[in-house]
Amino acid sequence: MPTPFGIRRRIKRLFGLEQSHAPAEPEVPKVELLIVAPDGSEQKCSSAAGSSILGISANAKRPISSGCADSSCGTCRVEILEGAENLSAQAPRERATLKQSGHPMNLRLACTTGLERGSAKVKAFELM
Ligand code: FES
Repeated sequence: MPTPFGIRRRIKRLFGLEQSHAPAEPEVPKVELLIVAPDGSEQKCSSAAGSSILGISANAKRPISSGCADSSCGTCRVEILEGAENLSAQAPRERATLKQSGHPMNLRLACTTGLERGSAKVKAFELM
């Protein structure tokens, strides 16, 4: 029989005796990003697997600079130093933007490049 105001449940929760009926949340794997600044200093940050490099860098002290966040300006370009195999495939729009802005085609746009697993090391050209 339920008690008024759920006192029994509150007491059980307080002592950690209440059983949760909610299904356990699946644990999202983490990825690690090492950002090398133009001056050579390094910052390490992490986030959930599948996040964009730009999104992961938001957890750093000095995130990678961005302009449009939709792969059209090229501000967030980075050079991949390690972990290229852990990144999402390059989209046609990303290639088009790199070509239009005259950047080398081996660069990636941090706003559209996802870090799918493990870790990566990138050289940023502009930081906030
Ligand atoms: S922020 Fe503009 S291309 Fe990434």
